[in-house]
Amino acid sequence: MANPFPLSTVLVLDFGAQYGQLIARRVRDLNVYSEIVPCDISADEVREKNPGAIILSGGPASVYAEDAPSMDPAIFELGIPVLGFCYGQQIMAATLGGTVSHTDKGEYGPAPLTRVDGVDCAGCGGTSKLYGDTPHEQTVWMSHRDAVTEVPEGFEITAVTDVCPVASMEDAERKLYATQFHPEVRHTPYGQEMLANFLFNIAGLEPNWTMDSIIDDSVAAIQEQVGNDRVILGLSGGVDSSVVAALCAKAIGKQLVCVFVNHGLLRKNEPEEVEEVFTNQFDVDFIHVHAEDRYAELLAGVTDPEQKRRIIGEQFWKEFFAVAEEVADDGEPVKFLAQGTIYPDIIESGARKTGGKASTIKSHHNLIPFPDGVHFDLIEPLDHFFKDEVRALGSALGLPDHIVHRQPFPGPGLAIRIIGEVTPEKLDILKNADAIVREELDAYNELLFEKSGERNGEVARAEAGGPEVERSVWQYFAVLPDVKSVGVMGDERTYQRPIILRAVESSDAMTADWAKLPYDVLAKISSRIVAEVPGINRVAYDITSKPPATIEWE
Ligand code: XMP
Repeated sequence: MANPFPLSTVLVLDFGAQYGQLIARRVRDLNVYSEIVPCDISADEVREKNPGAIILSGGPASVYAEDAPSMDPAIFELGIPVLGFCYGQQIMAATLGGTVSHTDKGEYGPAPLTRVDGVDCAGCGGTSKLYGDTPHEQTVWMSHRDAVTEVPEGFEITAVTDVCPVASMEDAERKLYATQFHPEVRHTPYGQEMLANFLFNIAGLEPNWTMDSIIDDSVAAIQEQVGNDRVILGLSGGVDSSVVAALCAKAIGKQLVCVFVNHGLLRKNEPEEVEEVFTNQFDVDFIHVHAEDRYAELLAGVTDPEQKRRIIGEQFWKEFFAVAEEVADDGEPVKFLAQGTIYPDIIESGARKTGGKASTIKSHHNLIPFPDGVHFDLIEPLDHFFKDEVRALGSALGLPDHIVHRQPFPGPGLAIRIIGEVTPEKLDILKNADAIVREELDAYNELLFEKSGERNGEVARAEAGGPEVERSVWQYFAVLPDVKSVGVMGDERTYQRPIILRAVESSDAMTADWAKLPYDVLAKISSRIVAEVPGINRVAYDITSKPPATIEWE
């Protein structure tokens, strides 16, 4: 993965940390670019990347375990400042001749720490540049069983806790620093200050990775890669593809062709909103493919969820490549396919390890191969960014909030929220009910956001392992099940469908809890749906977490 940012990079060596991504995020929060690399990276590869500093992450293993992740000891000889956290401290100690021991008692959670780095520093009582002006006694977040008991030659102990004889250590001359605790989680109140001390006062980096520099560098990288060629993009209306479109629009304008395949399964008004943004606000070539009827025909009579997914996914690529061919026939060939692969896609798919991602397409949950005979070079301008950075980029490029803060929405759309066969009549009912759910819960979510400063679980994710903040709701929508029940409206007996309301709190969609929505919000949604959506006589609320249920119903 080429780094388009010419500024200093901080490499995070990943030893399998629970908080690995969080470390890179925290560094980026300080306006310094940071990349995660596997812990077995060689010293030569590190030198090639020319980082301004290195951070060794934590990890679940014991340094003495048989398959414990190790690192190239020559990295410590490169003269690049290194900071290790938790396992990172232990591997530094073990590699450089110190001792790591099993302790009787692990240390988990907040721990009172005392600095022991000398008493001659005015105001703070210590000399360690890592701790700087932070207090002599402070709380830190610990999560370990093994501990360093003897520091390597040249190192001094800079802090202790009741349990941990080496809560931190350093060899200031060689610029090697390590902490047993986790400065990257917010439970370590001075953690971010220590990180800033390391980056700026020890490694001498500059906080110059800002939104302006990110946009300038990304635009320049796209222009250089694309030259005068054309780029095609499948625009779904989701955050990632929209931000790619906005970025490419800035970089190459009309050389970008956005293909929006409308399968008729988006939420109410969404296709119109996407068209409005990319025709009025951005100067790109926008093609709206009206495939609603073709999808309706293909889905008629289909009830199996996986079959629905397959049909919708396959048809998307058929529609997309048909348009791509027309576009190509219509002028200069289209050399590039742009897509909204983001950094977690790369990290999680393992592509960063193999370096091979040029033959795969990001498709909903999966990376799928190009069809036979089709070739595009890929351009993936978001492959260095975390989701919230993508959102910030989108806002800075002028995308409206309803796109930038859009909830996760499944590629197969409303088809997997209609249980059983998808018909135009059911789609209509679901769109109308869902619009009411969104209207009411958007307002409620905005209130929560104002209160907690968190949207779509973003802060909660950054706080992995952090305190329970009052979370805003992650995803909310309506589901139309395939049953009918009896009701009474006015003097009439009805026999109609219910709507299931689903609203969950989550930080990554891997697990989720049902949202404890206030009764008055639930009551308003229920009465509005029954009053305003013909064909619905009942509303139920899904109070199941994931696991054992999933977020979607199909
Ligand atoms: P589940 O239902 O598995 O959903 O708990 C987890 C997250 O994934 C989304 N989801 C999908 N996204 N194609 C997608 O692009 C799909 O087929 C699909 N199924 C579920 C879901 O909305 C949630 O955010």
